Amino acid sequence: AAGPWEECFQAAVQLALRAGQIIRKALTEEKRVSTKTSAADLVTETDHLVEDLIISELRERFPSHRFIAEEAAASGAKCVLTHNPTWIIDPIDGTCNFVHRWLGTWGTEHDVAFTEGSSPALENPGEIPLPWAGGSRLLRSQCPPSQHTGLHALSRRFPTVAVSIGFAVRQELEFGVIYHCTEERLYTGRRGRGAFCNGQRLRVSGETDLSKALVLTEIGPKRDPATLKLFLSNMERLLHAKAHGVRVIGSSTLALCHLASGAADAYYQFGLHCWDLAAATVIIREAGGIVIDTSARRLIPKPLWLSSTAVDLCSQEALRVKPKVQCVPTAASDEH
Ligand code: IPD
Repeated sequence: AAGPWEECFQAAVQLALRAGQIIRKALTEEKRVSTKTSAADLVTETDHLVEDLIISELRERFPSHRFIAEEAAASGAKCVLTHNPTWIIDPIDGTCNFVHRWLGTWGTEHDVAFTEGSSPALENPGEIPLPWAGGSRLLRSQCPPSQHTGLHALSRRFPTVAVSIGFAVRQELEFGVIYHCTEERLYTGRRGRGAFCNGQRLRVSGETDLSKALVLTEIGPKRDPATLKLFLSNMERLLHAKAHGVRVIGSSTLALCHLASGAADAYYQFGLHCWDLAAATVIIREAGGIVIDTSARRLIPKPLWLSSTAVDLCSQEALRVKPKVQCVPTAASDEH
Protein backbone atom coordinates (compact mmCIF):
# COMPACT_ATOMS: atom_id res chain seq x y z
CA ALA A 1 0.00 0.00 0.00
CA ALA A 2 1.25 3.48 -0.80
CA GLY A 3 0.68 4.95 2.70
CA PRO A 4 -0.65 8.37 3.67
CA TRP A 5 2.49 10.37 2.95
CA GLU A 6 3.35 8.73 -0.36
CA GLU A 7 2.91 11.90 -2.39
CA CYS A 8 5.17 13.81 0.00
CA PHE A 9 7.78 11.07 -0.09
CA GLN A 10 7.81 11.02 -3.90
CA ALA A 11 8.10 14.81 -3.96
CA ALA A 12 11.07 14.62 -1.59
CA VAL A 13 12.83 12.07 -3.79
CA GLN A 14 12.29 14.13 -6.94
CA LEU A 15 13.48 17.32 -5.27
CA ALA A 16 16.55 15.67 -3.74
CA LEU A 17 17.55 14.37 -7.19
CA ARG A 18 16.99 17.79 -8.77
CA ALA A 19 18.94 19.49 -6.02
CA GLY A 20 21.72 16.96 -6.56
CA GLN A 21 21.99 17.96 -10.21
CA ILE A 22 22.31 21.61 -9.26
CA ILE A 23 24.96 20.83 -6.65
CA ARG A 24 26.96 18.61 -9.03
CA LYS A 25 27.05 21.39 -11.61
CA ALA A 26 27.95 24.00 -8.99
CA LEU A 27 30.87 21.84 -7.84
CA THR A 28 32.63 22.60 -11.09
CA GLU A 29 32.11 26.34 -10.79
CA GLU A 30 33.59 29.20 -8.81
CA LYS A 31 31.71 29.84 -5.55
CA ARG A 32 30.97 32.80 -3.33
CA VAL A 33 31.54 31.63 0.20
CA SER A 34 30.32 33.40 3.34
CA THR A 35 30.59 32.46 6.98
CA LYS A 36 27.84 32.06 9.58
CA THR A 37 28.41 31.30 13.27
CA SER A 38 32.19 30.95 12.95
CA ALA A 39 34.98 31.17 10.41
CA ALA A 40 34.56 27.43 9.81
CA ASP A 41 30.77 27.57 9.37
CA LEU A 42 30.42 28.07 5.64
CA VAL A 43 27.56 28.83 3.28
CA THR A 44 27.43 29.45 -0.46
CA GLU A 45 24.86 30.82 -2.87
CA THR A 46 24.14 27.20 -3.87
CA ASP A 47 23.01 26.35 -0.31
CA HIS A 48 20.48 29.20 -0.57
CA LEU A 49 19.47 28.37 -4.13
CA VAL A 50 18.81 24.71 -3.34
CA GLU A 51 16.97 25.45 -0.09
CA ASP A 52 14.76 28.06 -1.81
CA LEU A 53 14.00 25.63 -4.63
CA ILE A 54 13.02 22.80 -2.30
CA ILE A 55 10.88 24.97 -0.04
CA SER A 56 9.12 26.88 -2.82
CA GLU A 57 8.20 23.69 -4.68
CA LEU A 58 6.97 21.97 -1.54
CA ARG A 59 5.05 25.02 -0.37
CA GLU A 60 3.24 25.19 -3.68
CA ARG A 61 2.24 21.53 -3.50
CA PHE A 62 1.55 21.38 0.23
CA PRO A 63 0.52 24.89 1.29
CA SER A 64 -0.37 23.98 4.89
CA HIS A 65 2.97 22.34 5.66
CA ARG A 66 5.70 23.92 7.74
CA PHE A 67 9.44 24.10 7.22
CA ILE A 68 12.61 24.03 9.26
CA ALA A 69 15.65 24.59 7.11
CA GLU A 70 19.30 25.29 7.76
CA GLU A 71 19.77 28.55 5.89
CA ALA A 72 16.41 29.98 6.94
CA ALA A 73 17.38 29.23 10.53
CA ALA A 74 20.75 30.91 9.98
CA SER A 75 18.84 34.00 8.84
CA GLY A 76 16.86 34.03 12.07
CA ALA A 77 13.81 31.84 11.32
CA LYS A 78 12.60 30.02 14.43
CA CYS A 79 12.87 26.21 14.49
CA VAL A 80 9.50 25.15 15.80
CA LEU A 81 8.23 21.62 15.54
CA THR A 82 4.44 21.58 15.83
CA HIS A 83 2.05 18.72 15.18
CA ASN A 84 1.60 19.96 11.60
CA PRO A 85 3.42 18.17 8.81
CA THR A 86 6.92 19.67 8.89
CA TRP A 87 9.80 19.40 6.44
CA ILE A 88 13.29 19.53 7.90
CA ILE A 89 15.84 20.41 5.27
CA ASP A 90 19.59 20.65 4.89
CA PRO A 91 20.16 21.84 1.31
CA ILE A 92 23.87 20.95 1.28
CA ASP A 93 25.27 18.86 4.07
CA GLY A 94 29.02 18.92 3.73
CA THR A 95 29.24 22.55 2.63
CA CYS A 96 32.89 22.63 3.65
CA ASN A 97 33.62 19.71 1.31
CA PHE A 98 31.57 21.41 -1.38
CA VAL A 99 33.64 24.58 -1.03
CA HIS A 100 36.99 22.82 -1.05
CA ARG A 101 36.79 21.45 -4.50
CA TRP A 102 40.03 22.08 -6.33
CA LEU A 103 39.43 24.64 -9.07
CA GLY A 104 42.73 24.30 -10.89
CA THR A 105 43.17 22.60 -14.20
CA TRP A 106 45.47 19.80 -13.24
CA GLY A 107 45.52 16.35 -11.73
CA THR A 108 43.05 14.47 -9.57
CA GLU A 109 43.47 14.00 -5.87
CA HIS A 110 44.99 10.66 -6.72
CA ASP A 111 47.70 12.33 -8.76
CA VAL A 112 49.13 14.61 -6.14
CA ALA A 113 51.56 14.00 -3.34
CA PHE A 114 53.25 15.96 -0.61
CA THR A 115 56.94 16.50 -0.79
CA GLU A 116 59.36 17.96 1.68
CA GLY A 117 60.84 21.29 0.75
CA SER A 118 61.79 24.50 2.41
CA SER A 119 61.19 26.97 -0.35
CA PRO A 120 57.66 28.13 -0.83
CA ALA A 121 58.64 29.68 -4.16
CA LEU A 122 57.00 28.35 -7.28
CA GLU A 123 60.04 26.74 -8.81
CA ASN A 124 58.13 25.24 -11.63
CA PRO A 125 54.55 25.50 -12.75
CA GLY A 126 53.88 21.98 -11.50
CA GLU A 127 54.19 22.91 -7.86
CA ILE A 128 52.14 25.04 -5.54
CA PRO A 129 53.54 26.26 -2.24
CA LEU A 130 51.85 25.09 0.92
CA PRO A 131 52.72 27.84 3.40
CA TRP A 132 50.79 26.09 6.20
CA ALA A 133 53.02 23.04 5.78
CA GLY A 134 56.25 24.92 6.29
CA GLY A 135 57.09 25.25 2.63
CA SER A 136 56.12 21.75 1.58
CA ARG A 137 54.88 21.55 -1.95
CA LEU A 138 52.19 19.68 -3.74
CA LEU A 139 53.47 17.95 -6.86
CA ARG A 140 51.29 18.07 -9.88
CA SER A 141 50.39 14.96 -11.72
CA GLN A 142 52.27 13.75 -14.72
CA CYS A 143 48.92 13.26 -16.45
CA PRO A 144 48.64 15.10 -19.74
CA PRO A 145 46.22 18.02 -19.49
CA SER A 146 43.87 16.32 -21.92
CA GLN A 147 43.00 13.86 -19.17
CA HIS A 148 42.09 16.61 -16.72
CA THR A 149 38.61 17.14 -17.99
CA GLY A 150 35.15 15.65 -17.67
CA LEU A 151 34.84 13.26 -14.76
CA HIS A 152 38.25 14.27 -13.50
CA ALA A 153 36.82 17.69 -12.73
CA LEU A 154 34.32 16.03 -10.43
CA SER A 155 36.86 13.84 -8.73
CA ARG A 156 39.03 16.77 -7.66
CA ARG A 157 37.16 17.31 -4.45
CA PHE A 158 36.05 15.71 -1.23
CA PRO A 159 33.09 13.79 -2.54
CA THR A 160 30.88 13.75 0.53
CA VAL A 161 28.11 16.24 -0.20
CA ALA A 162 24.43 15.52 0.32
CA VAL A 163 20.92 16.91 0.29
CA SER A 164 18.87 15.91 3.32
CA ILE A 165 15.08 16.11 3.55
CA GLY A 166 13.22 14.83 6.61
CA PHE A 167 9.48 14.88 7.17
CA ALA A 168 7.66 14.80 10.51
CA VAL A 169 3.98 14.65 11.39
CA ARG A 170 2.72 15.07 14.98
CA GLN A 171 6.36 15.37 15.99
CA GLU A 172 7.07 11.91 14.70
CA LEU A 173 9.46 11.43 11.80
CA GLU A 174 7.69 9.77 8.88
CA PHE A 175 10.44 9.57 6.30
CA GLY A 176 13.89 10.73 5.38
CA VAL A 177 15.50 11.20 1.99
CA ILE A 178 19.23 11.80 1.64
CA TYR A 179 20.93 12.12 -1.70
CA HIS A 180 24.70 11.68 -1.97
CA CYS A 181 25.09 14.08 -4.87
CA THR A 182 28.43 13.04 -6.30
CA GLU A 183 28.12 9.30 -5.93
CA GLU A 184 24.47 9.40 -6.91
CA ARG A 185 23.32 7.33 -3.97
CA LEU A 186 19.77 7.85 -2.80
CA TYR A 187 19.15 6.84 0.82
CA THR A 188 15.56 6.59 1.96
CA GLY A 189 13.82 5.49 5.12
CA ARG A 190 10.10 5.38 5.82
CA ARG A 191 8.64 4.69 9.22
CA GLY A 192 7.78 1.01 9.42
CA ARG A 193 8.82 0.36 5.83
CA GLY A 194 12.56 -0.09 5.93
CA ALA A 195 15.63 1.84 4.80
CA PHE A 196 17.21 1.60 1.37
CA CYS A 197 20.10 2.86 -0.71
CA ASN A 198 19.34 2.88 -4.43
CA GLY A 199 16.75 0.20 -3.76
CA GLN A 200 19.01 -2.02 -1.65
CA ARG A 201 17.89 -2.71 1.90
CA LEU A 202 20.06 -1.22 4.66
CA ARG A 203 21.03 -2.87 7.90
CA VAL A 204 23.21 -1.53 10.73
CA SER A 205 26.20 -3.66 11.67
CA GLY A 206 24.86 -4.56 15.10
CA GLU A 207 28.35 -4.20 16.59
CA THR A 208 28.12 -2.98 20.17
CA ASP A 209 31.70 -3.59 21.31
CA LEU A 210 33.61 -0.35 20.98
CA SER A 211 36.91 -2.18 20.72
CA LYS A 212 35.66 -3.72 17.49
CA ALA A 213 33.97 -0.60 16.16
CA LEU A 214 34.66 1.85 13.40
CA VAL A 215 33.42 5.12 14.83
CA LEU A 216 32.39 8.20 12.88
CA THR A 217 32.26 11.73 14.20
CA GLU A 218 32.29 15.28 12.90
CA ILE A 219 34.15 18.23 14.33
CA GLY A 220 31.48 20.88 13.76
CA PRO A 221 32.20 24.55 13.18
CA LYS A 222 32.95 25.64 16.76
CA ARG A 223 36.59 26.31 17.54
CA ASP A 224 36.47 27.74 21.04
CA PRO A 225 38.91 26.16 23.51
CA ALA A 226 36.24 24.33 25.53
CA THR A 227 34.73 22.69 22.44
CA LEU A 228 38.11 21.71 21.08
CA LYS A 229 39.17 20.28 24.40
CA LEU A 230 36.03 18.20 24.57
CA PHE A 231 36.41 16.99 21.01
CA LEU A 232 40.04 16.02 21.50
CA SER A 233 39.47 14.36 24.85
CA ASN A 234 36.64 12.27 23.41
CA MET A 235 38.90 11.32 20.54
CA GLU A 236 41.57 10.30 23.02
CA ARG A 237 39.07 8.22 24.99
CA LEU A 238 37.89 6.46 21.88
CA LEU A 239 41.46 5.58 21.00
CA HIS A 240 42.18 4.44 24.56
CA ALA A 241 39.10 2.25 24.31
CA LYS A 242 40.83 0.76 21.25
CA ALA A 243 38.17 1.55 18.70
CA HIS A 244 39.27 0.12 15.36
CA GLY A 245 39.24 3.59 13.88
CA VAL A 246 37.73 7.05 14.03
CA ARG A 247 36.72 8.84 10.82
CA VAL A 248 35.65 12.36 9.97
CA ILE A 249 34.19 12.63 6.47
CA GLY A 250 32.79 16.17 6.49
CA SER A 251 29.09 15.40 6.29
CA SER A 252 27.20 14.30 9.36
CA THR A 253 24.23 13.22 7.25
CA LEU A 254 26.33 10.91 5.10
CA ALA A 255 28.26 9.63 8.09
CA LEU A 256 24.91 8.61 9.53
CA CYS A 257 24.09 6.87 6.24
CA HIS A 258 27.33 4.89 6.58
CA LEU A 259 26.07 3.84 9.97
CA ALA A 260 22.72 2.75 8.54
CA SER A 261 24.46 0.72 5.87
CA GLY A 262 26.71 -1.04 8.38
CA ALA A 263 29.92 0.46 6.98
CA ALA A 264 30.56 2.02 10.39
CA ASP A 265 29.34 1.01 13.82
CA ALA A 266 28.73 4.17 15.79
CA TYR A 267 28.48 7.92 15.40
CA TYR A 268 28.68 10.75 17.90
CA GLN A 269 28.85 14.48 17.58
CA PHE A 270 28.65 17.62 19.64
CA GLY A 271 26.63 20.33 17.97
CA LEU A 272 24.42 18.48 15.52
CA HIS A 273 21.35 20.36 14.31
CA CYS A 274 17.97 18.87 13.54
CA TRP A 275 18.48 19.29 9.79
CA ASP A 276 21.68 17.21 10.03
CA LEU A 277 19.80 14.51 11.86
CA ALA A 278 16.13 14.35 10.87
CA ALA A 279 16.23 12.37 7.63
CA ALA A 280 19.11 10.21 8.83
CA THR A 281 17.26 9.32 12.02
CA VAL A 282 14.47 7.55 10.12
CA ILE A 283 17.01 5.78 7.93
CA ILE A 284 19.04 4.58 10.91
CA ARG A 285 15.98 3.43 12.85
CA GLU A 286 14.62 1.58 9.85
CA ALA A 287 18.01 -0.04 9.37
CA GLY A 288 17.81 -1.39 12.94
CA GLY A 289 19.82 1.30 14.73
CA ILE A 290 18.94 3.80 17.41
CA VAL A 291 19.33 7.55 17.76
CA ILE A 292 19.38 8.81 21.32
CA ASP A 293 20.84 11.41 23.59
CA THR A 294 23.27 10.43 26.30
CA SER A 295 20.61 10.21 28.90
CA ALA A 296 19.37 7.37 26.68
CA ARG A 297 16.16 9.22 25.83
CA ARG A 298 14.98 8.91 22.26
CA LEU A 299 15.60 12.23 20.61
CA ILE A 300 12.65 12.29 18.36
CA PRO A 301 9.76 13.04 18.63
CA LYS A 302 10.76 15.02 21.71
CA PRO A 303 11.18 18.70 20.79
CA LEU A 304 14.42 18.45 22.75
CA TRP A 305 16.21 17.32 19.64
CA LEU A 306 15.56 20.69 18.03
CA SER A 307 18.13 22.28 20.25
CA SER A 308 21.76 22.10 19.30
CA THR A 309 23.13 18.86 20.43
CA ALA A 310 26.08 16.83 21.41
CA VAL A 311 26.62 13.16 20.97
CA ASP A 312 28.39 10.43 22.82
CA LEU A 313 28.51 6.68 22.96
CA CYS A 314 26.02 5.93 25.70
CA SER A 315 27.22 2.54 26.79
CA GLN A 316 30.78 3.76 27.24
CA GLU A 317 30.97 5.31 30.67
CA ALA A 318 34.34 6.83 29.85
CA LEU A 319 32.81 8.82 27.04
CA ARG A 320 30.15 10.57 29.04
CA VAL A 321 31.15 14.20 28.78
CA LYS A 322 28.03 16.29 29.24
CA PRO A 323 26.56 15.29 25.89
CA LYS A 324 22.98 15.82 24.86
CA VAL A 325 22.43 13.77 21.75
CA GLN A 326 23.56 10.44 20.54
CA CYS A 327 23.36 8.09 17.62
CA VAL A 328 24.32 4.50 18.22
CA PRO A 329 23.41 1.51 16.09
CA THR A 330 22.32 -1.60 17.89
CA ALA A 331 21.18 -5.05 17.05
CA ALA A 332 17.68 -5.31 15.59
CA SER A 333 16.34 -6.80 18.80
CA ASP A 334 16.76 -3.48 20.65
CA GLU A 335 13.78 -1.32 21.32
CA HIS A 336 13.40 0.84 18.27
C1 IPD B 1 27.68 20.37 8.83
C2 IPD B 1 28.43 19.13 8.40
C3 IPD B 1 29.62 18.95 9.30
C4 IPD B 1 29.22 18.83 10.76
C5 IPD B 1 28.36 20.01 11.17
C6 IPD B 1 27.19 20.16 10.23
P1 IPD B 1 26.62 21.73 6.78
O1 IPD B 1 26.59 20.64 8.01
O2 IPD B 1 27.62 18.00 8.45
O3 IPD B 1 30.33 17.80 8.93
O4 IPD B 1 30.35 18.79 11.55
O5 IPD B 1 27.91 19.85 12.49
O6 IPD B 1 26.38 21.26 10.64
O7 IPD B 1 26.97 23.04 7.41
O8 IPD B 1 27.67 21.28 5.82
O9 IPD B 1 25.23 21.69 6.30
